[in-house]
Amino acid sequence: MEFYEAIEKRRTVRDFEDKPIEPEIIMRILGAGLKAPTNNHLREWEFVVNDKKERLRVLNLVDMTSYEECEKMMDGFGMTDTDQRGMYHIAMPKQFSMLYNSGCLILPFFKIREPLMHPTCLSSLNEFASIWCCIENILLAAASEGILGVTRIPMTEELEHIKKTVNHPDNYAMPCYIALGYPQKGAKLPVQKVIKVEDKIHIGKW
Ligand SMILES: Cc1cc2nc3c(=O)[nH]c(=O)nc-3n(C[C@H](O)[C@H](O)[C@H](O)COP(=O)(O)O)c2cc1C
Repeated sequence: MEFYEAIEKRRTVRDFEDKPIEPEIIMRILGAGLKAPTNNHLREWEFVVNDKKERLRVLNLVDMTSYEECEKMMDGFGMTDTDQRGMYHIAMPKQFSMLYNSGCLILPFFKIREPLMHPTCLSSLNEFASIWCCIENILLAAASEGILGVTRIPMTEELEHIKKTVNHPDNYAMPCYIALGYPQKGAKLPVQKVIKVEDKIHIGKW
């Protein structure tokens, strides 16, 4: 697949076919992740590829949100954009099912140098920024294989649970879950906002 086609094909999908991803494809996708730019040249990233048998245990604390709770949250955040609200309505009730039913659940980890929640300057966040470059490479490589997915940001209690479940070292942190899979036919996609480059570019001055 041509690069820009993969960019267009990559969409966040939360409904998957009941079909695992072939191990060699997972290796290729993670290989693409490991080619992403990195702050310190070392790419200190690790991946726990979750076994389907272990999935319930790992996802124990992931919540499902009702329509009403979703409305309340969006109102609380003052969200008024219709497309944005539409996205949350599709996404929030699927937080558990999208991870549980994915063809491959990946838990990515990056090595932390300083406490992530107490950055002292912008470069304190370099490791966090770098792992997200890696995650985007993973999503784009997956799209080029006809595999789509979604990331979920874990709540603090989920992180504590993951630590106990997968037993990762203290100096590694998980920025998100990555669920990948073959998209279900008719999977519901939110409307993607059309954003024109011409409206975003400022030549010389804002
Ligand atoms: C940093 C980040 C955090 C995200 N967190 C979540 C999440 O917790 N749950 C979820 O369902 N989707 C999550 N997403 C997916 C976004 O909802 C999705 O990328 C966005 O709605 C745009 O849709 P698109 O990817 O199809 O263009 C996240 C994406 C990013 C980049």
